[in-house]
Amino acid sequence: MEVLQDPDKLSLRAAELFATWADASIKDRGIFKVALAGGNTPKKMYSVLTNEPFSSRIQWDKIDIFFGDERLVPLNHPDSNFHMINEILLQNIPIPKVNIHPVSIVSDKNPQEIAVNYEKDIRSVFNIAPPDIPAFDLIILGMGKDGHTASIFPHSKALMETKLLALAVEPPLNTVPGCLRITLTPPILLNAKRLMVLVSGLEKAEMLHKVLQEPNNTDELPLSIICSLGDRVTWLLDSFAARGK
Ligand code: 6PG
Repeated sequence: MEVLQDPDKLSLRAAELFATWADASIKDRGIFKVALAGGNTPKKMYSVLTNEPFSSRIQWDKIDIFFGDERLVPLNHPDSNFHMINEILLQNIPIPKVNIHPVSIVSDKNPQEIAVNYEKDIRSVFNIAPPDIPAFDLIILGMGKDGHTASIFPHSKALMETKLLALAVEPPLNTVPGCLRITLTPPILLNAKRLMVLVSGLEKAEMLHKVLQEPNNTDELPLSIICSLGDRVTWLLDSFAARGK
């Protein structure tokens, strides 16, 4: 766990780790497969990655990019995680389009079909069939104020999933935005080689404290599912989020 002074330093550190892990994975196996987080917290990190020294140091053509969760809105909608990541990061780096694997939101498909197709895309890039679970080189996660991560919300059926890689889920009432989501499921999160959790801001301090104190309370605090993964998880907090620790 690392505590950085403020969101700028947090984002810089996150970008440094991303670049270091990408270099190592590409050197070892020729590829770096990553699932990115949505929401506000990682925006600065994505922006830092488009600047030097990162933009030219990183071998973008050897990186496959997936999305930890997506909101069921068109891919050019302001609430779309793909839209946010595309605007801030993907349009500004030399990454081939075939390396980018958004959740394919098609209006004539029902949400569960969209999740099934996303699972197929993931399986085809990893070249593995059920029941095998892909091992991402890195999954980046955030934490909602209610303790959710990706779109695995408190008391969600997604917490019980053991086989499917992606599910369509309805967020609790009052979640903003309130649209349906597609989320990666616990089995794939727990099988990642590395996870990086970014938590910033005083408003997250109390919940983060609870997650760290109650690693078995996964039904109420979904992010706590990763607490058992030890040093496969890198927690990056800013000093505000760390205040409740
Ligand atoms: C999303 C996410 C979600 C996010 C947390 C934290 O689509 O909203 O992927 O899990 O990481 O809600 O969001 P903030 O960084 O905006 O607080």
